[in-house]
Amino acid sequence: MEERAAAPPHIVLSHVTKRYTTAQRGELLALRDVSFEAGRGEFISIVGPSGCGKSTLLYIVAGLLEASGGSVEVDGKAVDGPSPERGVVLQNFSIFPWRRVADNVVYGPQMRGVSKAERRRLAHKYLELVGLEDFADYYPRELSGGMKQRVAIAQMLACNPGIFLMDEPRSCRISSCASGSATARRCCSSPTASTRRCCCPTASSSWEPGPDG
Ligand SMILES: Nc1ncnc2c1ncn2[C@@H]1O[C@H](COP(=O)(O)OP(=O)(O)OP(=O)(O)O)[C@@H](O)[C@H]1O
Ligand SMILES: [Mg+2]
Repeated sequence: MEERAAAPPHIVLSHVTKRYTTAQRGELLALRDVSFEAGRGEFISIVGPSGCGKSTLLYIVAGLLEASGGSVEVDGKAVDGPSPERGVVLQNFSIFPWRRVADNVVYGPQMRGVSKAERRRLAHKYLELVGLEDFADYYPRELSGGMKQRVAIAQMLACNPGIFLMDEPRSCRISSCASGSATARRCCSSPTASTRRCCCPTASSSWEPGPDG
């Protein structure tokens, strides 16, 4: 019988440790010996109580924070900084208050020199995906917290990264009966998401699950 080699893991974390130095208590061990693998197209949730290190872990995978020990590899290559291949939506989502919603969504493409017409198309496409097509010309201050987070998700999608890293996307509700994780899953399974995509949303375990589980 023909043997087929198993697909190599997309993301590999090996014995990741993170120590912070705090003014109040000296050294704080935020992560100890965290190891796991994520395959292409996998949707992974990191769940745990507030302060257990979920965001810290996500920042390390994103390359925004350096681990104190252990390693993170993507496709066999050590993560040593941020990359456009790894899109990130932060817990305190970082959209620009002075840019309208549509202009926020296409910030990445604009920085890459994408034409105005194409930016308009991308903004419409991703705002529709997150249910904000009617708010393209609003400013962030005119939106709710969950709507702002959906803008941040659309902004990440418009950069077309291979990996989506989202910190607590449950807080963005796409409709009265769908939670943020449904938004995240919808984004991952959208026609724009290829099988190479891997999602790592985090969620505090103290949060009430939405109707989608
Ligand atoms: N920059 C920092 N300096 C010092 N300690 C930090 C820093 N960032 C986080 N910590 C500490 O590391 C631990 C993990 O924090 P982290 O933000 O990763 O938790 P979390 O699981 O994302 O929590 P939450 O669910 O509340 O967002 C906490 O004890 C926190 O106080
Ligand atoms: Mg957090």
